[in-house]
Amino acid sequence: MIKNDLTSHTIRVRVPGTSANCGPGFDCIGLACTIYNDLQLTLLKEPKLIIETKGEGADNIPSDDRNIVWRSIQTLLERVGADNEYKGAIIRMENHIPLSRGLGSSAAAIVAGIKAANAILGNPLNRNELLKLATEIEGHPDNVAPALFGGVTVSVVNKGQVQTFSFVPKLRLKLVVAVPDFPLATRLARQVLPTEVPMKDAIFNIGRASMLIGALIKGKERFLQNAFDDALHQPYRTGLVPGMEEVFKAAKAAGAIGVALSGAGPCLIAFTIDRDHVEQEVASSMAQAFLNNNIKTKSLILTLDIRGAVVQNN
Ligand code: HSE
Repeated sequence: MIKNDLTSHTIRVRVPGTSANCGPGFDCIGLACTIYNDLQLTLLKEPKLIIETKGEGADNIPSDDRNIVWRSIQTLLERVGADNEYKGAIIRMENHIPLSRGLGSSAAAIVAGIKAANAILGNPLNRNELLKLATEIEGHPDNVAPALFGGVTVSVVNKGQVQTFSFVPKLRLKLVVAVPDFPLATRLARQVLPTEVPMKDAIFNIGRASMLIGALIKGKERFLQNAFDDALHQPYRTGLVPGMEEVFKAAKAAGAIGVALSGAGPCLIAFTIDRDHVEQEVASSMAQAFLNNNIKTKSLILTLDIRGAVVQNN
């Protein structure tokens, strides 16, 4: 945990990792999970930039003006007309969310930056304006929405406006994540997608996405059986994650109720019911199935974060 003196220009924010799509909800559904990045931000009046990053990806995160936290802060400062007053920053990040793995590390960076800068400025933007800005920076809302609000989120973009419905499922879920030892750029994982899809695949996903949200809200476990399946993006991405199908089968055989590509990958996320106590077995089965395909992984056993990004008071 980052500790430091608080001045009126300094603030600390904790942001959760996120898993987008949850199978059928491509670019619309997401959830926040209990793995976090911490940011301590000081806004400076002089044009000076100090960026220190510890933890996940520290060696690969730029510490100059290409840094995504800083770029997001700059975008917010311009949006609220404070870019003439604040021209620099001290950014200290402590990261636990793996980088470029499909757990929302870029969304966390964007949300951390704008949430902290907004708080320092006395919250000129409200929740929805922050969501809109974060979506503009990221390009789609399915990671930034749960990073901001927590829980499971459904987001719709309409003429530049973003609407997000966030809820806590009536089921106690465990999230078992297999984190492969290689990164995958979202840009590449989007390049393999078709620009058009068959009507039958659209219908496949509409049914499952609707079933997923309904079953989670009502706590109807039996309706989740097929609800994490997808025909719009995962089939096109199997070539990018060796062993994906095998890992899906292994997770289900070990007791997962569903399994999906986490965001654009390469992480795979399995959903288990807390009561079943199968998460360790699901984690080992997924790791073994990946290993059969010569991929080493790290396992994370998480639950749902229900708070989203939070300004820390001390
Ligand atoms: N919905 C996005 C995708 C999430 O699957 O490409 C990645 O950030």
